[in-house]
Amino acid sequence: MAKQTVLILDFGGQYNQLIARRVRECGVYCEVHPYRMTVAEIKEKAPIGIIFTGGPNSVYIENAPKPDKELFELGIPILGICYGLQAMSHVLGGNVKPADKREYGKTAVRYDRSSPLFKGLGDEGMVWMSHTDFVSEMPAGFRSVAFSSECPVAAMEDSERKLYGLQFHPEVNHTDNGTLILKNFLYDVCGASGDWTMHNYAQQIISDVREKVGNGKVLLALSGGVDSSVCAQLMKKAVGKQLTCIFVDTGLMRKNEGNEIEEAFGGGDINFIRVNAEERFLTKLAGVTDPEKKRKIIGEEFIRVFEEEAKKIGKVDYLVQGTIYPDIIESGAGDAAVIKSHHNVGGLPDFIDFKEIIEPLRLLFKDEVRALGRELGLPERIVRRQPFPGPGLAVRVIGEITKEKLDILREADAIFREELEAAGLDSSISQYFAVLTNMRSVGVMGDVRTYDYTIALRAVTTTDFMTADWAKIPYDVLERVSNRIVNEVKEVNRLVYDITTKPPATIEWE
Ligand code: XMP
Repeated sequence: MAKQTVLILDFGGQYNQLIARRVRECGVYCEVHPYRMTVAEIKEKAPIGIIFTGGPNSVYIENAPKPDKELFELGIPILGICYGLQAMSHVLGGNVKPADKREYGKTAVRYDRSSPLFKGLGDEGMVWMSHTDFVSEMPAGFRSVAFSSECPVAAMEDSERKLYGLQFHPEVNHTDNGTLILKNFLYDVCGASGDWTMHNYAQQIISDVREKVGNGKVLLALSGGVDSSVCAQLMKKAVGKQLTCIFVDTGLMRKNEGNEIEEAFGGGDINFIRVNAEERFLTKLAGVTDPEKKRKIIGEEFIRVFEEEAKKIGKVDYLVQGTIYPDIIESGAGDAAVIKSHHNVGGLPDFIDFKEIIEPLRLLFKDEVRALGRELGLPERIVRRQPFPGPGLAVRVIGEITKEKLDILREADAIFREELEAAGLDSSISQYFAVLTNMRSVGVMGDVRTYDYTIALRAVTTTDFMTADWAKIPYDVLERVSNRIVNEVKEVNRLVYDITTKPPATIEWE
């Protein structure tokens, strides 16, 4: 199925993936590529429009990243954002120079509403600015269509050549009607029809996979996380019984998680193998307290269990991996373009006899993976699952791991999650869980002295998990969680809330 494509050429800005997210939210498929993508490669993609991202450079310094001049002669509409606008100006003969005063933060601008970009907006609006350089002289053929008190060219256009530029960032939430501005560019300038829908995509990828796999045998390591679950569901719809999923239940999962996975996939539509390996893992982990050692043991044991099962199956044709788009986007600027490659289960392909890897989610962002899961009928509990570390609860039980400690943590964690969900906070908090500290303290229950564990609650908000803030959970919710946990979970008599940011702390405790 042909779909309209917009190309986002990456000049190294911090919001580049966000631009892509917004474009897709507008129902238009897009891809992010380094700004160095050649004109020939661009033509091959036949995009309906191109967006230049922001970037950290000044366009007038030597070796600053610049678009190829030929791009502007293809007749393809182009929108330059921030540095992208300056680069467009510079290459087409305008002038860009440093301003006396850096413009940063929410800024009021006035729009010329005769520009198609600002259709449906008021005369004035707040936008997010983050720049020192500005366009002091526009290239021939352009006119300014927005300005602020500091910036005479907050937006410019050459409607004849369909070239547009914004000094501000329409992709961030701080810009009022930012998505509408992008939508105007996509629909009114590029002629988008909005053909990127999850329904269409699901149909397309199912038929692509079917065609590729033919009668072949497919193997998938199902962790129960969102990505591998969506992969499994998709492959189930595409090839049914040709698919074998191996789910290694390490005994380190949250309450009911293993059963939920079995319920979703064990119905006989595919070959579903649940390996109950709790005892193996706990035996290996007995007496181990060092976090790195725990991780290593679990990683190795996982591979071993998986290998044993895979060998029983013998040769397969395809191995499915849940790689998603942010893992493969190549960064635009910088000299060494690094391609991040992420494998949920490191080293897996080495010992399995297979022909090719299939990555059915490689074009999707995380929230699109969830949307696809919903489209394919996965239960909401699985679709909304938060990131969960590979080593599971082993890194949330501090110190030595025992089944008893895991059970205590599972109960406390389930209550915490239940209460946050009941309070409607689960969608605004990125990740939340309980940790069983290795500390016991004195308490009193009834008239009896207790000497029990302390549970720590962790809840963070973050967009990239590289930095995170602790979530400001209302006191009454914390109070309910605390009451329930100390009342309902034996062996816990104290509860603390972790209020450290990352950095200096990490999200997980180990
Ligand atoms: P930290 O603790 O480093 O965690 O701030 C950042 C994010 O990564 C998750 N995490 C892991 N995910 N395997 C994973 O797949 C792991 O070993 C692992 N350790 C941490 C963590 O839950 C958080 O979302």
